[in-house]
Amino acid sequence: MLQLELFPRMEFKSLLDFQRLENVPLSLSDKKKLISHIDFFQTPKANDVIRHQHAQHLDKILGLRLKYIEEMLVAEAKGFDPEGSHESWGPSLHGGVQTWVGLDLQTLQTPYSEILRIFQLLKIKPYQHVVDLGAAYGRMGLVVGGLFIKNSFTGYEFVKARVDEGNRVYRELELGRCQLIEQDLYDRGFEMPEADIYFIYDYGQVEHIDYNLKQIQKISRKRPIKLVVRGKFTKRIIADHHPWLDLKYEGKLEEFFSIYTAYEN
Ligand SMILES: C[S@@+](CC[C@H](N)C(=O)[O-])C[C@H]1O[C@@H](n2cnc3c(N)ncnc32)[C@H](O)[C@@H]1O
Repeated sequence: MLQLELFPRMEFKSLLDFQRLENVPLSLSDKKKLISHIDFFQTPKANDVIRHQHAQHLDKILGLRLKYIEEMLVAEAKGFDPEGSHESWGPSLHGGVQTWVGLDLQTLQTPYSEILRIFQLLKIKPYQHVVDLGAAYGRMGLVVGGLFIKNSFTGYEFVKARVDEGNRVYRELELGRCQLIEQDLYDRGFEMPEADIYFIYDYGQVEHIDYNLKQIQKISRKRPIKLVVRGKFTKRIIADHHPWLDLKYEGKLEEFFSIYTAYEN
């Protein structure tokens, strides 16, 4: 049971409970209470449709202006590529980089409840650092910032408007240990930061992901790492070219992620 200003006996049992929160002005203190409460990130039902709807409610409750920003990106992309689609708009707008402009927002991002499940399996330890490669609006940082107060998070993302919006919400919620950085992960000047946990959800072309995996491999020669992978594409690249990664957990049923570990010392 959570005590909020307008809802002194708040419980999260159905989507309606989340929907109610969308339509009231929440104070900063209430928003901070919400993100520090595990049930807030838990889907009321473990199926994909509800999981996505739950995530959509959370985005709205936390004040992320995703729809507006994505519509602006689509409008800009249509200027270059009027007959295009979500397959072509990203590359047209971002110099060939597949930024998935125009893709449904719930497909673009991992649901919060799946992120929570990932952390429950990872058993993250205090002071471990988490990196999301291709972070979009940085949902993972909201989970880390809210629930894992002794951990830090960095998300790298190509699209500046997504980075700015995610960081705006991190600042508003005073999540000082979380940040998004505007970065092309395939830029030869990009140095992979050392981290305990890396997350990849199919962000780019084969050669981009392969390049970043090789960078992570170098780090794994110095320290143990865990890698969480969402999406078939990256899992296939790992199966074909990265035997140094040990598969430790394969998502079951509607879990779309796998967890690998490595320490090549
Ligand atoms: C499928 S989304 C995943 C978002 C987030 N990791 C999640 O799971 O919610 C992939 C993101 O990677 C970004 N991306 C694609 N290529 C990139 C690159 N070369 N450098 C940085 N980000 C990139 C896209 O713009 C997109 O926001």
